[in-house]
Amino acid sequence: MIEVRNLTKIFNRGKFNETVAVSDISLKIKDKSIVALTGPSGCGKTTLLSMMSLILTPTSGEILYDGDNLLSGSDNFKTNFRRMNFGFIFQHINLLPQYTTIENILLPLYAFDADPKEYEERAYSWLKKLGIYDRATHLVEQLSGGEQQRAAFVRALIREPKYIFADEPTVFVDEETSRIIYRIFMELREAGKTIVLSTHDPELIKVADEVYRIKRGSLA
Ligand SMILES: Nc1ncnc2c1ncn2[C@@H]1O[C@H](COP(=O)(O)OP(=O)(O)O)[C@@H](O)[C@H]1O
Ligand SMILES: [Mg+2]
Repeated sequence: MIEVRNLTKIFNRGKFNETVAVSDISLKIKDKSIVALTGPSGCGKTTLLSMMSLILTPTSGEILYDGDNLLSGSDNFKTNFRRMNFGFIFQHINLLPQYTTIENILLPLYAFDADPKEYEERAYSWLKKLGIYDRATHLVEQLSGGEQQRAAFVRALIREPKYIFADEPTVFVDEETSRIIYRIFMELREAGKTIVLSTHDPELIKVADEVYRIKRGSLA
């Protein structure tokens, strides 16, 4: 279970441009569920996801995974926890444009003990599922936005992490790919994964077990 307690993020604190992006949000996320954060642009969805996934340090509050307060751990511990347990489908975590799709998927695996070769087959089957098999050896900079989004999906899921964070995962893809993505999320839930996502997509919201509406940094 993920438990968020009184989480707050204030950017540029004390300066003229101080922004309270997330204000005192508390929520609990059950294992094996799909949770959607929704709300108008600028309401704090990305900031909340970034804090929950330990990319961004909160101004105050706590984040517990199975009862452990991760924020009290060292940077090293947090980095390791993130690597071992999290998959990210974030718009601002870009693929490497000068590398091919398959390289983008397999290169991060060198950071682990695993032999990327072992993952190659799995990567190709994901690419097939997402309809970009024939883009495997193309440079990422030559892919469309939607194709890049799908490549980022495969990269995030290849190690089958327990927790998957997805920031507006269907925003750049067509309806057909969106439907594939809904199905993949449902399959991942079935396989015991927990998916936390932000979205404006009403069809994706329907798939969620729980929906949190955010308004100006607070739960609405
Ligand atoms: N790095 C940052 N520095 C300053 N302000 C930020 C930063 N990131 C986000 N913000 C501000 O925080 C608020 C919430 O942003 P964000 O979490 O990106 O919203 P959403 O994802 O819901 O569109 C916005 O007002 C945004 O301008
Ligand atoms: Mg956002």
